[in-house]
Amino acid sequence: MARGLLPELAMANIVYVLNGPNLNLLGTREPKTYGRTTLKDVEALCRATASRHSLELEFRQSSHEGELIDWIHEAAAREAWGMVINAGAYTHTSIAIHDALRAINIPIVEVHISNVFAREIFRHHSYVAPVANASLCGFGVEGYALAITGLVAIHESAAGKRG
Ligand code: DQA
Repeated sequence: MARGLLPELAMANIVYVLNGPNLNLLGTREPKTYGRTTLKDVEALCRATASRHSLELEFRQSSHEGELIDWIHEAAAREAWGMVINAGAYTHTSIAIHDALRAINIPIVEVHISNVFAREIFRHHSYVAPVANASLCGFGVEGYALAITGLVAIHESAAGKRG
């Protein structure tokens, strides 16, 4: 069975969407790179996408590495159905977040609003990517909706419904 795929009945139908440092400033932060959409708007987009798939949503943001790690553990304890994570700059620095994601058994999609590979070299390395099922970047905030839809595809593929 692929990483993080638990028998359907054992799982809560909750999707965690975790946002790291500075993402609370979306809308005003570097709009040329991140657009004008606020984090509240991103939450509404995720809520609409999750509800189309009959999923509950836990949408969180923290600029504190330890709090993000606690939420990763919480998602595992609740046997969440999936996780979308934009770890912000911690993507490029945090072995602790890497270890937390590695320790859990939940399908994970990494998301970045900007195309990190078209930016500075220090953004090209991700500690999240090796422990995620999939990664998305450069789709703007729409990437969050795509990531949730991607989780559905990962589950369907594991259930033999596609791919
Ligand atoms: C980001 C990209 C990161 O390099 C940056 O530190 C962020 C946002 C993105 O969504 O494009 O905070 O994760």
